[in-house]
Amino acid sequence: MITEFANITSKLEYFIKEKNVEAEHMLRTGFWLREIFPEADEVMYVAAICHDIERCFPLREGETKPPKTGEDEKDAEYLAWHGQRSAEFTEKLLREFGFADEDVIVKIKTLIAEHSLGGTKERDVMMDADSISLFENNAELFIKEGKDKEKLRRKFEAEFARLSSAKAKELAKPFYDRVIGILNKC
Ligand SMILES: [Fe+2]
Repeated sequence: MITEFANITSKLEYFIKEKNVEAEHMLRTGFWLREIFPEADEVMYVAAICHDIERCFPLREGETKPPKTGEDEKDAEYLAWHGQRSAEFTEKLLREFGFADEDVIVKIKTLIAEHSLGGTKERDVMMDADSISLFENNAELFIKEGKDKEKLRRKFEAEFARLSSAKAKELAKPFYDRVIGILNKC
């Protein structure tokens, strides 16, 4: 079972790298999860690396993406849709790769569907790892894309403030300071 699951994890990592849509962000979320929460098992690691995987798949016929402002408080509908869709595509890939442990599939799907919610230890560490990876891999890109600077500053400040532990804050701080420095120079 353990060897089999390690094999599935490698296949998922390979899929993410090959698709190359937010690959760095997703894979580093798995890395940061293990840094802030060494107790994380393979199930949590898989959920972390697949948490945004729906972005690798174009909209299906009849599917519509809810509006997204980039401010989490206003994006409840989008975040629920995004979490659910990532959970569904992760299940699809797991089954394609021959994985069929129903309990584990349910656990992974739940972690992914709830990855933006926080409020329990597991959800908090998933969200923290996602945020650290965002500061590390995406934040500067948001600035370069020409997004509204003050909106971005508010988003980054809120994202840093909600990190749930001193350890997560310590790890995020160099990346956070760097992007705030870039914003200040704009
Ligand atoms: Fe993410």
